[in-house]
Amino acid sequence: MSKINTFFIFLFSLLLINVSCFHLPDFKPDYKEVLRLSLLFYESQSFTMAFTSTILAWGVKEYKDGYKEADQYKEVLEAIKWATDYFIKCHVSPNEFYGQVGDFPIDHMFWGRPEDMTMTRPAYKIDPNHPGSDLAGEGAAVFAATSLIFNDVNRTYAEELLRHSVELYNFAKTYRRFSCPDRPASCGWEQFRSPLPNPQILHGAVVSGPDQNDLYEDVREDFGYNEVTLYYNAGFQSAVAGLIQLQSDDL
Ligand SMILES: *[C@@H]1O[C@H](CO)[C@@H](O)[C@H](O)[C@H]1NC(C)=O
Repeated sequence: MSKINTFFIFLFSLLLINVSCFHLPDFKPDYKEVLRLSLLFYESQSFTMAFTSTILAWGVKEYKDGYKEADQYKEVLEAIKWATDYFIKCHVSPNEFYGQVGDFPIDHMFWGRPEDMTMTRPAYKIDPNHPGSDLAGEGAAVFAATSLIFNDVNRTYAEELLRHSVELYNFAKTYRRFSCPDRPASCGWEQFRSPLPNPQILHGAVVSGPDQNDLYEDVREDFGYNEVTLYYNAGFQSAVAGLIQLQSDDL
């Protein structure tokens, strides 16, 4: 028996113990309804995040039949296309990608309807003079993941998405951000403050990421957002090990 089956039997036993201890009525989750409501939730949000769309597209790629069974396949494609059409507009040229509209602290001082917002709403972009490999990389990911799911329904659109993905991937790789140049070149505060892209890229570590207000700036000077540490990476690494193990268990 594979480990994943053992794991589910373990989970199921826990559930049975739980039910028998607390005399809960029979509980039969309605996953189709959950899926429908979850999709409605996205439709009522602005749904602009590349990460969100990447994960949703990945879910469609893996569980297309689930969406079809719940009669939500067309709906999920429409919801995702809303986001990808937006990202296409943000990617105005191969090395130019808009990542955010609005200034968080100013926006967050307002509570009301989007139509009534009259404050300054600046647009921020990355380009060769202001590189951001992480944002460009996430952009490449969302275009790649969505291209895969649109391949079945609209080849033209899938190819357009793939082109954006390749361009952003090249942008992320060409204009990297990282700190010290190779020896014997010196490395100190001058390099730290240099406006040039980082000469190296570190693979395999996660940065600490956004703060409690979901603010994140890809700048070398801010260790709070951009530092890599052993303890941040421990959870990440264990999760990756888990994925590899589950993959090798003949799912
Ligand atoms: C396929 O996508 C393209 C690009 O967005 C669009 O112009 C076209 O109408 C779509 N075709 C179909 C059959 O939906």
